[in-house]
Amino acid sequence: MSAPNKSYDPVEVEALKPEVIDRAKDEALAAVAAAGDLEALREVKAAHAGDRSPLALANREIGALPPHAKADAGKRVGQARGAVSQALKQRQEELERERDERVLVEEAVDVTLPYDRLPAGARHPLTTFSERVEDVFVAMGYAVAEGPETEAEWFNFDALNIGPDHPARTMQDTFFVRGPGEPGDGDAPGSAEDSGVVLRTHTSPVQIRTLLDREPPVYVICPGRVFRTDELDATHTPVFTQVELLAVDEGLTMADLKGTLDHMVRELFGEGVHTRLRPNYFPFTEPSAEMDMVCYRCHGASVGDPDNPCRTCSSEGWIELGGCGMVNPRVLTACGVDPERYSGFAFGFGIERMMMFRHNVEDMRDMVEGDVRFTRPFGMEI
Ligand code: PHE
Repeated sequence: MSAPNKSYDPVEVEALKPEVIDRAKDEALAAVAAAGDLEALREVKAAHAGDRSPLALANREIGALPPHAKADAGKRVGQARGAVSQALKQRQEELERERDERVLVEEAVDVTLPYDRLPAGARHPLTTFSERVEDVFVAMGYAVAEGPETEAEWFNFDALNIGPDHPARTMQDTFFVRGPGEPGDGDAPGSAEDSGVVLRTHTSPVQIRTLLDREPPVYVICPGRVFRTDELDATHTPVFTQVELLAVDEGLTMADLKGTLDHMVRELFGEGVHTRLRPNYFPFTEPSAEMDMVCYRCHGASVGDPDNPCRTCSSEGWIELGGCGMVNPRVLTACGVDPERYSGFAFGFGIERMMMFRHNVEDMRDMVEGDVRFTRPFGMEI
């Protein structure tokens, strides 16, 4: 430690005496070392390196010294402050490291622990997908129409121009419903087939109900569950979901049907996807067609290219969607709509089938069994 410097004379400044500065520095260094956490260190910093700390005050005194004394005092104070700020910085880093290590230990989460939070329920992908289809049409001004799942035979068949001897009416396809004591129940004579009540085999009866209910123009989209006496297997299910569309207005043509179909598949499957129609027969539409869409994966490129097979369309280039056509005038007449003035188009398809190729679902049973391991990857949309 150096002796008092005579050259301070005539201004003997207490705050700048070497021993005072050394003491201030030692105290500061001791306080820094003693600071146990970052909060304490912040206080130490304010007290020993802040504007009102002894060393800062000493620094301010230097200006009042005679020129020849300034350098010496400046050096001493500067070194002391440098040492303190260096120590502060080091301690800060140490404490931060300690804190980070502690946080890692204290806040560690054992992700293998079983959790007790109940998973929130979510809608089934069949529902969310049907709604996506509905949205495409709601955006164009269509209304959503629904009807009962247990349906009068007249709505399900007769009004749709499906005569009593049409094959679709036999027990093979249709679940007939009868109440207790009604024909076919136990000893009651007759069969359930005479009940006149069925589980609807398609959503087309909703068309009839809509036409009876509303005056044209009618633009509706009818989603719903339908029933057929199929065994549950990888490609069939006795309960499935259909979406059917009906438009009745003045001057509607097949071109409107085609444009609507193309718009729908573009919205659902992306640009460049379009449809084609193949002649077919449905009693309730005339003319009728089967509709296909171009494969949204390979866009037809896999056809005749064995090096580039497409799993989605089995390299066919086209995917079968469902049925469609111009509403048979007899159906319009049955619903009290003048076929001379109005025409309409309709189409219908199965949501399960659409989901199968859209999401590569290989087994239809996965969609109806309600196993959350199947539904979870579709997300938790509610
Ligand atoms: N209702 C028909 C079916 O189940 C589909 C369809 C709807 C066909 C509308 C043409 C027009 O299978």
